[in-house]
Amino acid sequence: MPDSNTPGDSIKTLRARIQRLDSAGLDLMFREARSFKKWQDRSVEPTVLQELYELMKFGPTSQNSNPGRIFFLCSEEAKERAVPALHEGNVPKVKAAPVVAIIAYDTEFYEYLPRLFPAKDTSGMYRSNPDKAESTAFRNSSLQGAYFMLAARALGLDVNGISGFHNEKIDVEFFAEGRCKSNFLCCLGYGDTDGLHPKGVRAWTLMKPARYCRNF
Ligand SMILES: Cc1cc2nc3c(=O)[nH]c(=O)nc-3n(C[C@H](O)[C@H](O)[C@H](O)COP(=O)(O)O)c2cc1C
Repeated sequence: MPDSNTPGDSIKTLRARIQRLDSAGLDLMFREARSFKKWQDRSVEPTVLQELYELMKFGPTSQNSNPGRIFFLCSEEAKERAVPALHEGNVPKVKAAPVVAIIAYDTEFYEYLPRLFPAKDTSGMYRSNPDKAESTAFRNSSLQGAYFMLAARALGLDVNGISGFHNEKIDVEFFAEGRCKSNFLCCLGYGDTDGLHPKGVRAWTLMKPARYCRNF
């Protein structure tokens, strides 16, 4: 018999093994997860960082465009290069973090589209329309940044997003060749619960359901 496995077969097998995350998993990734400013004295192994980006890459992007790029600042020297770009209040947070990731995007992501989305080569559409390329790269790299944070939590890491910095300064310092642009930074490590303030209420908790979720 020829091997007649289809992509759907492996998903059926998966769904026979697991139907949903359990409550502890949901707590880990969402309900109990926090943004940390202090960190345990515990380094993040390179193998964990590798596992992290090998996991987050599976999150969906439009036309499978994958414009996000991740740059890890692991040494004190590398983090120090980011300091002049930071808003003052974020300097100690970045310095204290075991690892800081620059969530960036490739402004010429469309070069890879013929291989990433062979069903239809739309690279010319982006090449001839820089505004569309920019908004697509920014939107999808933001999504990939979110996948990055959730993948980190799924692996037992903690995160703290950082958007309080001057993107142009980070870009000049790290992406002088001009092709990549920074989106936001993400501190990574194992969080220290000492001094955590209570978790902030979410907007939807303040609203009537009709204001955040309704049928039109
Ligand atoms: C994209 C992004 C940017 C953020 N920028 C900053 C920042 O510049 N400085 C900071 O201290 N926290 C920053 N945060 C952390 C948020 O303030 C924090 O996630 C939010 O208050 C919710 O807190 P919680 O995760 O502990 O519930 C950022 C978070 C995200 C996702």
